[in-house]
Amino acid sequence: MRLVFLGAPGVGKGTQARRLQEEYGWTVIATGDLLRQAIAENTPLGQQAKAYIQRGELVPDTLVNQIVSERLQGLEHFILDGYPRNLAQAEMLESILSYPLDAVIYFELDEEELIARLSGRRVCPKCGAVFHLQSNPSKEGDRCDRCSAELVIRDDDRPETVRHRLKVYREQTAPLIDYYRQRSLLRVVSAEGTPDGVYQRLLETLHAI
Ligand code: AP5
Repeated sequence: MRLVFLGAPGVGKGTQARRLQEEYGWTVIATGDLLRQAIAENTPLGQQAKAYIQRGELVPDTLVNQIVSERLQGLEHFILDGYPRNLAQAEMLESILSYPLDAVIYFELDEEELIARLSGRRVCPKCGAVFHLQSNPSKEGDRCDRCSAELVIRDDDRPETVRHRLKVYREQTAPLIDYYRQRSLLRVVSAEGTPDGVYQRLLETLHAI
């Protein structure tokens, strides 16, 4: 399958992409994760991206397009999580794909619940595991139950940055919903309820494609 996961910050795209990766072995290309990794390693890409991410702005298209086109080369099955994020990136994607997309999965959720998911998120800086204080707590409390590192709050999950990310999403990313609907690629999955419930709905949607 060749999928794009579209949806607001905190809707659960990464959580669902990792489940499909575990079950089906599809490669997940998560631009946010790749950019955070570049920042942690202090690469030239990371140095350029850091300030944008901290402000909750999109990183310039040229940087992100390059990461994605390198990773996509030769891949037949993949999930793009967090890319494209504006119309220019969507057009770029169309021009670099070797095989057409099967679907764009749009995860839908109320803004109030998005904020609750982002404010309760805790991440492991060492292995990248993602937890939530209420819905998916670590069995080790403040430490990662996979590698024991101390969990942290993502810099861009602070309330003022979250508000800005949601604004950027509404202005720049949400227009992609209509863009992909017009191309008959859009599939809407409700992101309400538990991660298991969302995963079941996602699988039903994928089986129907
Ligand atoms: P990125 O990392 O992609 O952030 P995002 O799209 O804002 O998405 P999130 O990672 O915040 O949320 P998610 O939907 O993956 O939710 P998750 O599964 O973690 O991008 C970060 C930044 O990088 C951007 O702001 C931008 O600066 C830059 N960037 C990235 N891509 C770019 C691009 N293409 N162009 C330009 N710039 C780019 O879940 C959230 C929380 O909820 C977790 O705690 C989870 O445990 C919990 N949860 C998940 N599902 C459920 C559920 N069903 N019920 C209850 N809790 C749940």
